[in-house]
Amino acid sequence: RIGHGRFREHLNRIKLEDQNDCRYLTDELIPKLKDLFIKAGLYGVDLCKNNNKKIPEAIGVISGCVFLVTSFIFIPIVFGNDLIERELFPHNEFAELLAALLSICCMLLLGFADDVLDLKWRYKLLLPTVASLPLLVVYYVNFNSTTFVIPIPFRQWLGVSINIGFLYYVYMGMLAVFCTNAINILAGINGLEVGQAIVIAASIIIFDIIELRGDQFKAHTFSLHIMIPYLATTLALMKHNWYPSKVFVGDTFCYVSGMTFAVVGILSHFSKTVLLFFLPQIMNFIYSVPQLFHIIPCPRHRLPKYSAEMDLLQASRTVIAKKDLTFFRKIIVQVLTILRLIDKVEDKESITINNLTLINLVLIKLGPMSEDRLTVTLLALQCCCTLLAFLIRYPMASYFYET
Ligand code: UD1
Ligand code: MG
Repeated sequence: RIGHGRFREHLNRIKLEDQNDCRYLTDELIPKLKDLFIKAGLYGVDLCKNNNKKIPEAIGVISGCVFLVTSFIFIPIVFGNDLIERELFPHNEFAELLAALLSICCMLLLGFADDVLDLKWRYKLLLPTVASLPLLVVYYVNFNSTTFVIPIPFRQWLGVSINIGFLYYVYMGMLAVFCTNAINILAGINGLEVGQAIVIAASIIIFDIIELRGDQFKAHTFSLHIMIPYLATTLALMKHNWYPSKVFVGDTFCYVSGMTFAVVGILSHFSKTVLLFFLPQIMNFIYSVPQLFHIIPCPRHRLPKYSAEMDLLQASRTVIAKKDLTFFRKIIVQVLTILRLIDKVEDKESITINNLTLINLVLIKLGPMSEDRLTVTLLALQCCCTLLAFLIRYPMASYFYET
């Protein structure tokens, strides 16, 4: 018994601290392996620079693998106490962790396939749906709670809670699709994909730590066991992806990140809070809708345009021929103009507007700027949104829910 007690104490001490060691491993592996990616033809050209240097692409697969392997190695440690007394082993929690890792693992594979094969957009929407299935099955077996608590101001019409049944599973599947793609389309300048993922991961970790005191402490400990190795490996990736990027993270990283956030949101029951941390991504998605659904022409790349004379980035543009100006297109352009959300240049034959991304919007509002300054500005916006999210989640939550 004394032996077990000491073992437990030791386990608890090493659990969270040592998960951080995967940061050093990722940091060591990236420079060693990146030439292999170029040899395999996995490279891209930095479109915001004045050179044609080959930059290894899909390096997110390295950080993703280290993150997953670390999580696998830590399974016996996370469940160490329960492995000693096997009769009380928490099979439910174990299934949750395995399903979470399986979904993330699926996304790593599918993201890498996307980087290698450059899949069409319809597949990009299908892949996360398939990868979220293990998660949904475990949710069904373990919780199957499909009830939404209605915010206080709406209760007079809708009642205290509403059971949406099967639609809740559709919501969770869509959350996985949204989280993965939302990061992927707020991208294209050095350090932005990784930077936003770091801010979101740090926000979730802070939220988990605050909530450890509450009655949902088990769910938040589960979330921490996933988020800490994720954040550690992502910090190492950031070192190599920051301006000027020595590696590109690829769709692999965006998919793994999105699925990781969706997994903790769903299984730790705070998906609405996760969505609050995604405010800039939600704004970017809504702003992008006309181009994503090809109502407004959408070029292959919407990232900002590099101007060699100024050595600064400017908003990139798309051209709408006036003969193709359908009623629907006209309305969208007019609404965006009234809301001052586009920069429009018109001549006899065509209308030229900026590509509809948050990155270009910042460039229109604040003027051309250098790539690193643009990344810092967008990450500052992400941090402000996190502060707003905490404000909504804590002081303001009492207006909407009993806290
Ligand atoms: C998404 C965006 C696309 C954007 C691209 C940039 C939509 C619908 N799609 O496409 O508009 O241009 O991401 O990642 O919004 N690159 C850089 N600098 C960087 C990162 C990437 O120049 O810091 C370029 C490189 O050439 C790299 C390529 O972007 O090879 C990667 O693009 P990819 O991830 O394949 O584009 P999508 O995710 O399909
Ligand atoms: Mg991408």
